[in-house]
Amino acid sequence: MIISVSNHKGGVGKTTVSTLLAAYTARHTDKKILLVDADHNRGSSSIFFSNKEPEFSIFDAFQCYAEDPYDIVSISGIMKKAVVKADGYDNLFVLQSSRKLAQITALGLEAEALKDMIEIAHFDRYDLVIIDSGTVPVIVSMCITACDRLLIPMMMSQQCIGPTRNTINLAKRKRAGVLGLIPLTVGKSKWDRAILENWAEIIHDTPELGWELGLMEGIPQSKTIVKADLVNGSIPAVALPSMEKIFENLNM
Ligand SMILES: Nc1ncnc2c1ncn2[C@@H]1O[C@H](COP(=O)(O)OP(=O)(O)OP(=O)(O)O)[C@@H](O)[C@H]1O
Ligand SMILES: [Mg+2]
Repeated sequence: MIISVSNHKGGVGKTTVSTLLAAYTARHTDKKILLVDADHNRGSSSIFFSNKEPEFSIFDAFQCYAEDPYDIVSISGIMKKAVVKADGYDNLFVLQSSRKLAQITALGLEAEALKDMIEIAHFDRYDLVIIDSGTVPVIVSMCITACDRLLIPMMMSQQCIGPTRNTINLAKRKRAGVLGLIPLTVGKSKWDRAILENWAEIIHDTPELGWELGLMEGIPQSKTIVKADLVNGSIPAVALPSMEKIFENLNM
């Protein structure tokens, strides 16, 4: 199962949801989990490791693939070298990102590239792959193409509405199955309720996307999220209901 955590808007909780889900699933099963950091900001990589540039990253694999997509030995070798086990976990691995990924557009890759690379490296043999897609359109498109299910985080702001709709439209074009829309920083205001009602309607009007979990309960505004120290394996209590729900749905 490959889940892409995507939204075209920055700062809506992609890294928060990806890392929480990776940590939660790794703690609750013995199965092997791979967190793919596909964001040049290295959000997910730097939660588990220092923010130092790694020797090998997903960018090197993309570059190798762009040079010759049939050189499966080199592509697979680099993909494997870019994966590091997270400290404090026996079964959580991170495919690290690099700031160089900001130059991805120049490589002229097809939307299928990441899907292909995951297959070449046999990363589909991990029990669960979670991709933090970042916001670069070419990469978001590759992540949605590569995934079995899409998980869309969003925040309760006006600016989030347009890009979230664009993400849903892209999922529709790619015929991706959607796990759910997961709101973060939800409060009890009238405004928040109105936004959620609006999203519930959009979900209702797009049944073709599958929406296994629909509009999720989400993660309320919380200071512990900001301070969450996932390296030590502590999942903030406010995030537990949504993580449990996703985990249950995955049937691992
Ligand atoms: N429930 C919450 N309560 C309070 N703060 C939150 C909550 N969820 C996420 N945040 C904070 O919001 C910020 C943005 O979240 P995050 O980094 O996960 O977004 P992102 O989509 O990955 O951003 P980017 O596009 O920059 O990679 C972070 O500082 C995060 O700690
Ligand atoms: Mg991020």
